[in-house]
Amino acid sequence: MVNLDDLEVLQVDREGMLQLLLDLPEHVQTGERLGLTADLPRATDVRAIVISGLGGSAVGGELLRAYLSMECRVPIWVNRHYVLPAFVGPQTLVCVVSYSGNTEETLSAFAEARARGAQLLAITSGGQLAEMAEQAPVPCIRVSGGMPPRTTLGYLFTPMLTVLARLGLIADQNAPIAETIDLLRELAAQYRPGIETFRNLPKELATQLYGKFPVIYGVQDFSDVVAYRWRTQLNENSKVLASHHVFPELRHNEVVGWDRPPRRAQDLWVVLLRDSQELAKIARDIEVTRAFLQERAAGITEVWAQGRSRLARLFSLLYPGDFTSYYLALLRGVDPSPVRAIDLLKERLASS
Ligand code: F6R
Repeated sequence: MVNLDDLEVLQVDREGMLQLLLDLPEHVQTGERLGLTADLPRATDVRAIVISGLGGSAVGGELLRAYLSMECRVPIWVNRHYVLPAFVGPQTLVCVVSYSGNTEETLSAFAEARARGAQLLAITSGGQLAEMAEQAPVPCIRVSGGMPPRTTLGYLFTPMLTVLARLGLIADQNAPIAETIDLLRELAAQYRPGIETFRNLPKELATQLYGKFPVIYGVQDFSDVVAYRWRTQLNENSKVLASHHVFPELRHNEVVGWDRPPRRAQDLWVVLLRDSQELAKIARDIEVTRAFLQERAAGITEVWAQGRSRLARLFSLLYPGDFTSYYLALLRGVDPSPVRAIDLLKERLASS
């Protein structure tokens, strides 16, 4: 295995993924500003909020859903499809998000939302979505282009949050966003390549996950989105398969897949996403399940949330996953940025 403390290893990162990861706090700050200065959608008598997007453009919507699940009085639904659910109509606020602006499922959802009279907001760096928003016309938040969509979470998520607050659908988000930016800056300093493995959590985790199948477990309506983000970052940056599931549901099905004689499955490594504010019932659930998995997995690592606000705690769980996937890519000798398989399939679809 290559040594992550030898900075030569960074040469594998030919397209500059590291800097984009380190810049997340700055992206959140810019995203907040974009949301504070954006034209607002109509937003009258909003009964539901839908965020429509795919892949790296959908994860901000999932984060919004999980973050606001205990606060927002109207349901938040993430749509990753060409079509919209039947409930979408004039009393639905639909945020259509495509970083490139050219994702065909998302463009189709935009057209459908317009046809149904939904209240619309577009977020994109350009492409056809920007054109369609201009023609409609509907408010469109423009973010800078040229980055892999999955690295633009701060740009795509934060404006939605700020816009919802400006519309009065949720409380003011100034304080949690400020805390999140500060905490992310501290974490960026702890996770950067110059910090040796023995005191660098993502480097240590990448070393543990090397050659293993990562299994990421979060908690419903909180770290469920984070578990999913870890998995997709491991897919796209490290180019490995991974799985994720959530408590309490996983104890009602997934655990049966682990129910083999207590013998270590040398290929499976579990990451448990923990939070000191998780419900007592969930904490007990995780402890009992953890003891069961202990004898069956190659290893288990707990990653604990930091910070006070729910937003900071969510980002503090998400951020080490981004870096872990980065360091695992370096260990595997693969450039974290290119996503050849996605590009290839998009091309084939466009020409079919
Ligand atoms: C992430 C990535 C994909 C895209 C997805 C949708 O880096 O490349 O998950 O986010 O294919 O494309 P956009 O985000 O341009 O709508």
